[in-house]
Amino acid sequence: MQNCLLLGGKALSDKIVETIKTEVLSLKKEKAIIPGLAVILVGNDPASHTYVKRKKDACSKVDFYSIVHEMPEDISEDKIIQTIEMMNKNPNIDGILVQLPLPKHINTTKILEVIDPKKDVDGFHAYNIGRVVSGLDSFVPCTPLGVMRLLEEYKIDVKGLDVCVVGASNIVGKPMASLLLNAHATVDICHIYTKDLKEHTKRADVVVVGVGKPNLITADMVKDGAIVVDIGINRLESGKLVGDVDFENVSQKCSYITPVPGGVGPMTIAMLLENTLKSAKKREG
Ligand code: GUN
Repeated sequence: MQNCLLLGGKALSDKIVETIKTEVLSLKKEKAIIPGLAVILVGNDPASHTYVKRKKDACSKVDFYSIVHEMPEDISEDKIIQTIEMMNKNPNIDGILVQLPLPKHINTTKILEVIDPKKDVDGFHAYNIGRVVSGLDSFVPCTPLGVMRLLEEYKIDVKGLDVCVVGASNIVGKPMASLLLNAHATVDICHIYTKDLKEHTKRADVVVVGVGKPNLITADMVKDGAIVVDIGINRLESGKLVGDVDFENVSQKCSYITPVPGGVGPMTIAMLLENTLKSAKKREG
């Protein structure tokens, strides 16, 4: 039996999707604009194919135009760059997303930097990262943005709280830490070289974890009444989907916890739609 409250993302994401749908209708009626998202998908990684399908389905749900450019594993960097440049110029495309990870022979940073920052709905371009760190208006990476919206929905104000972010990736951990810092939390960032992870998590009022390791965060690593946000998505051999937190035991002692699935996951896609709509609203001409 869990004692804490669930920070569910499904109902909130459904609510956001409904709002977007209404906004798309008026954008179409008043300005003849249909938001457009282009996705570049390289290779055969099954998880990436699943995520891209979800993104495309979400676009259909809110009546966005979307196109997926599927490319083989051995595609050249130049070919990917050419496709991005074409999408940068395409007036019907408001958002460009390159599904990560890319194959090893491709320089990911170089590719992401080709995306027009005004169409960078994933918020991975250095221009947008810099603006996020500075607390300026920008495209914010969807998963960290989704976490902030989820906390807001449940009236959790992180101001003055000690937050431990576990995972320091460019797409999750680092922007997550920036958003929390901008919201006046005291932020600790842990990663693979952290000497004693438990020492950090145990002190935190809020633990946010996104590294892709089932059961990384166990009950002894979390203080009583902490808020636990699990960004991890891992498929076990049994086929079961779990996060990075030992949900069964951690939920006995924390105050709030996100379930996996149904927590942060649905929020990520809702934020991608929001970012694409935001870009479409700024369409020139
Ligand atoms: N791979 C894992 N998460 C993401 C994401 O949010 N965006 C992109 N483009 N690729 C990912």
